[in-house]
Amino acid sequence: MPSNPLKSLLSVRDPNLRCVFVTGAGISAESGIPTFRGPEGYWTVGSRNYTPAEIGTWAHFQRAPEQVWCWYLFRRRACNAAQPNPGHLALVDLERHLQGQFTLITQNVDGVHLRAGNSRARTLEVHGNGDHMRVGRGYERIVPIPEGVPYCERGDEELPGPARSRLTVDGQLARPHILWFDEYYEERLHRSTTALKHAAQTGLFVTVGSSGSTNLPLQAAAEAARNGAVMIDINPNDNAFSRFVQGYERGLWLQGSASLWLPKLAELLGAQPAPEAD
Ligand code: APR
Repeated sequence: MPSNPLKSLLSVRDPNLRCVFVTGAGISAESGIPTFRGPEGYWTVGSRNYTPAEIGTWAHFQRAPEQVWCWYLFRRRACNAAQPNPGHLALVDLERHLQGQFTLITQNVDGVHLRAGNSRARTLEVHGNGDHMRVGRGYERIVPIPEGVPYCERGDEELPGPARSRLTVDGQLARPHILWFDEYYEERLHRSTTALKHAAQTGLFVTVGSSGSTNLPLQAAAEAARNGAVMIDINPNDNAFSRFVQGYERGLWLQGSASLWLPKLAELLGAQPAPEAD
């Protein structure tokens, strides 16, 4: 490996290089939102009665919809309290710099990328958004969760009455706008085809803070590799993407946190940090 492999990988880039960034729970870990599969992760710790991976299913929503809501309203408190960290902010700088050549595919439903300043147009929330719910006969209509819906203190308590009434539309309890374990990606709801299209055309593909346990990001990586993209994984721990990039000629694992490496990468790509607000 050359002395600065990151620089030499990127030196081959042309000014029209398209860049796709894929983020997972790890980028928000430094903003205080637990990951799913880490030692303190939601899927690791679980609730008293169910593991969250059992709760996060359409099948369980049909059996016990209020319990499912309660789990998401518990998690929503941590998501809404989280502030963007330097990793999120670097992605905002990158979008401002790269404009139409920038795409962000996120598995996170915490909404932090949008709150940090990334645009809705270029942020593909492929697993949904925890500030939204779906209503209608086939739960096809995405609407914001109304103001004033209380959080749940625990993931497995009763759904408070005020929450139930505010989440009910035309006599029907809405569902969270979250892609569950027993569901498929759909372009209309998750912009999944758009995500794969961008991956297939990209020259740089960067995964950040993901274990690589879900389908679409892995498929997107395969598309990008087929296009000969430079592939970078940012993650302190070994994972499916770090293993992939290490076996790929134009790949690099930046072992460390998102808040360490994303600002460095943004600088190398020519993005300037936004001026500090007064
Ligand atoms: N910076 C970068 N990566 C980090 C950091 C950090 N500061 N801290 C932890 N990580 C890494 C972990 O090493 C791990 O590889 O973040 C990853 C988190 O993995 P998961 O918890 O599996 O999260 P993610 O890959 O986003 O999960 C994908 O699975 O449960 C579903 O729908 C849910 O969107 C979620 C999907």
